[in-house]
Amino acid sequence: MNTNNAQKTMYERAVEILDLNDRGNYTVPTSGLYPFQWNWDSCLVSIGQQHVNEARAWTEMQTLFQHQWDDGMVPHIVFHELDDGYFPGPDVWATGRPVPTTGITQPPVAGFAALKLFERAKDSSLARQRASTLIAGIDRWHEWFYAHRDPHNTGLVAIIHPWESGRDNSIDWDAALDRVPIDGLQPYQRRDLQHADAAHRPTGAQYDRFVSLVQLFRSLGWDNSQLHDASPFKVVDPGFNAILIRSCSDLAKLADLLGEDEIAERNRTRAAAGLSALESLWSEAANQYVCFDRAVNAFVDSASVGGLIPALAPIPAHRSASLASRINTLSKSTGYLIPSHEATDSRYDPKRYWRGPIWLIVNYLIADGFRVSGHDDLVQRIEASSLELIAQSGFAEYYDPDSAEPCGGSTFTWTAAMVMEFLRNER
Ligand code: GLC
Repeated sequence: MNTNNAQKTMYERAVEILDLNDRGNYTVPTSGLYPFQWNWDSCLVSIGQQHVNEARAWTEMQTLFQHQWDDGMVPHIVFHELDDGYFPGPDVWATGRPVPTTGITQPPVAGFAALKLFERAKDSSLARQRASTLIAGIDRWHEWFYAHRDPHNTGLVAIIHPWESGRDNSIDWDAALDRVPIDGLQPYQRRDLQHADAAHRPTGAQYDRFVSLVQLFRSLGWDNSQLHDASPFKVVDPGFNAILIRSCSDLAKLADLLGEDEIAERNRTRAAAGLSALESLWSEAANQYVCFDRAVNAFVDSASVGGLIPALAPIPAHRSASLASRINTLSKSTGYLIPSHEATDSRYDPKRYWRGPIWLIVNYLIADGFRVSGHDDLVQRIEASSLELIAQSGFAEYYDPDSAEPCGGSTFTWTAAMVMEFLRNER
């Protein structure tokens, strides 16, 4: 009885946060720190919105896709309304879009989210109509990835900026980022430190390199046919590729349900090729997947959560079992699941963004994969740990895996959306 009451309150609070950050046809991650529409935030948030309002959930994704570039890229931020509390804003990106956007992308969870919205829809005619307007755009985005982020046909795409990964300052990028030249860096002023504790955010040295890459791509006119080869930063992230593979596979299923045979076929082919190439990122030593640095042709010595996210993709059963055992090992050194980096690594930092803290969206993606692969006990543990963090510390951006301390921004939209998902079985 008590538990039910507590969960009801938590659910209601989650609904309130979605409302608070709703800007009509898109949602901001949290006001202040992130006052615009972010790509993968929106797609994952739509999964939460579906619990409350199906039409609104579809609109969230449709708004994002209205800003798809002509070449097929879906940008990482859409600057719907100007707000000078954020850096780098539209003037720095200078992408020349009618509604300004950034010039890089983010993890493609759209295919994954769209299939979820469709399969669970109560209003199936609305779902059919809205999904039909989305799938061609998602298919074009997938095509863009393989054309422009895998121009030499390896089967795996590279990210050309750490922000594309969604895991901005992960230890995975340290060595590659060190090689990014900053000699031509124009002066700039960070704004994130006005909204969040500097000890929880990326360092100044990292920001210099983030901004240098933006300035380089801008100098190349945001021409995606050039950027991959021209970028000094090119890393193949197993987590990013796994998300793309799962989205291709889910889009194929959605296209089947809508009778769009060609889209289905193309995406099945992409998923199969991606999956067989993903195997090359397996590390026996780390007992998980690891990144590959395409600029120097070497694996990256960093066992981060990016190498566990492949649990989301239809990987072979023995690989899922190894990832499950790896998470069990990780759980022995932290109080909560799943740390974004292993706590025994000297570079681990439990409060600094993607260098240790727990993110609920990552927990959700990994748990979803383990549900499909039949690791139900682990799913239950991940979900319970996630809800405990909320009970202890509210709806933060991320959490210290040892102390559960809330870090980064507060009243965070995608955290709230994931809580609605984790509570769905109890409700
Ligand atoms: C941070 C995160 C990124 C997220 C964005 C908005 O940059 O690293 O993954 O999309 O904030 O929440």
